[in-house]
Amino acid sequence: MSRVILHDETFEPYITEAETAAAISRIAQEVAQRYKGRTPLFLGVLNGAYFFASELLKRLDIPCEITFVKVASYHGTTSTGVVTQLIGLSQPVEGRDIVVLEDIVDTGNTIEHIVSALRPQHPASIAIAALLLKPEAYKKDIPIDHVALRIPNAFVVGSGLDHDGLGRNLPGIYRIVN
Ligand code: IMP
Repeated sequence: MSRVILHDETFEPYITEAETAAAISRIAQEVAQRYKGRTPLFLGVLNGAYFFASELLKRLDIPCEITFVKVASYHGTTSTGVVTQLIGLSQPVEGRDIVVLEDIVDTGNTIEHIVSALRPQHPASIAIAALLLKPEAYKKDIPIDHVALRIPNAFVVGSGLDHDGLGRNLPGIYRIVN
């Protein structure tokens, strides 16, 4: 691994591909144990979670389904300002055990919006699995049930995470050099 430049920002190697894979294998075991005898529906949050979803699911030996959603934020005309919508959820979630897959949980705003959009559809349960969590930035009460890697507050790319569209294809995780 060597330094990479994406849109004039420099990133240095931080977590290797092997360490990332080992961390995903560890939570795959947790998830498999938790959903033994059930058939969870995984909900991958695009674009970033495509890598995590694929790597996690190939390590699971339980029956399961997967679908992908996008979170769209826009400035609405309401007094509350930003409106967030879940788009692309074509599958019924009522009565299902849902596992939301996120690339990274930072402030938790995204996950909070997703959970609020899912609750009125009456799933049997909702759990969250994240490739990365920034514990110092996370301020919400929603438990992040399965976390592969915890990192300090730094901007990272690789393994699905991008800097303005670039870097998703990098193996392992790279950290910005300030
Ligand atoms: P949150 O809503 O603040 O938890 O942020 C979640 C979203 O912000 C993630 O799904 C990412 O798209 C983006 N994000 C947060 N931190 C990073 C980072 O370090 N690198 C790349 N994207 C990030």
